[in-house]
Amino acid sequence: MTTIAQPLPAADTGLTEHIAHLQHTLEARLDALLPLGQERDLLAAAMRDSTLAPGKRLRPLMLMLTAEGLGACPRAALELGCAVEMVHAASLVLDDLPCMDDAALRRGRATLHRAFGEDVAILAAIALLSRAFGLLAAIETVAPATRSRLVAILAEAIGAQGLVKGQLQDLREGSQARSAEQIAETNRLKTAVLFGAIMDMACQLAGSPVGVREALLNFAGELGQAFQLYDDLRDLDPATGKDPGKDAGKSTLVAVCGESRTREQLLGHLNTAEHYLEQAFMGEQALASLLRKVFGRVEAGRC
Ligand code: IPE
Ligand code: IPE
Ligand code: MG
Ligand code: MG
Ligand code: MG
Repeated sequence: MTTIAQPLPAADTGLTEHIAHLQHTLEARLDALLPLGQERDLLAAAMRDSTLAPGKRLRPLMLMLTAEGLGACPRAALELGCAVEMVHAASLVLDDLPCMDDAALRRGRATLHRAFGEDVAILAAIALLSRAFGLLAAIETVAPATRSRLVAILAEAIGAQGLVKGQLQDLREGSQARSAEQIAETNRLKTAVLFGAIMDMACQLAGSPVGVREALLNFAGELGQAFQLYDDLRDLDPATGKDPGKDAGKSTLVAVCGESRTREQLLGHLNTAEHYLEQAFMGEQALASLLRKVFGRVEAGRC
């Protein structure tokens, strides 16, 4: 039985503090990278608001903890984490647009297009993506060849073979009947591929052996599937800070197979994810501890 789907034991306090410290460092760096700009600089304000709004920071923290576990340079991992969070924030801004999910609430606040207008929201998302790549290209402590590889990994994850493709599938096919396999393929593209890129980037930074990279990519695939199922299971939960019931009429796995089978599948993915994580790290606990913070309510059926 997986431990990721159970609450943190008290003995994890040290790890919890360490993760809180990393998160603090991350928030401070994002804050510095996205200054407010001049008065009436709507673009700067929108980029800042959407990225710094209170999210879980799961992706950058996973990147930083993995890089740490692999012995990579923490300063470079911080820059990569910021770039990934900017990409993620941009994907949320676009996902919320009226022509996409048409959402009013995100991270407990008005969605960016509701606060700033659709024009600013679209342009801020593009600017965040550009900023993210600019950030990667400028990490001077990383060898140029590795930097190019990092840029390529992130570009592939976002583009026509990754997140963007998955988002289009979700929009165009989500209102039709879908098989469990079709749903899993869309979830892989729109959500899991970015987790894979995060693991790959940490491995590139650390120069990890092939076997470790393979185990971490497999871990990311399983975790990405679990993460999207968890998100779908929480569609009615106002604690997410999003509009409850946004998935009404959509062929998510919850709609197709029901809550209890979706929860079973979610636990299966978490179990396999944990197996791959152990294969890669053998005894490294920090990443598992972060995941328990996110998935710790699944086992008790409270999601
Ligand atoms: C939401 O991601 C989008 C999905 C892939 C389901 P998160 O749940 O990580 O969003 P934040 O960053 O915490 O707001
Ligand atoms: C979108 O999935 C995932 C992204 C890649 C942005 P959802 O549309 O379910 O994400 P939420 O629920 O709006 O965060
Ligand atoms: Mg969506
Ligand atoms: Mg959405
Ligand atoms: Mg959702």
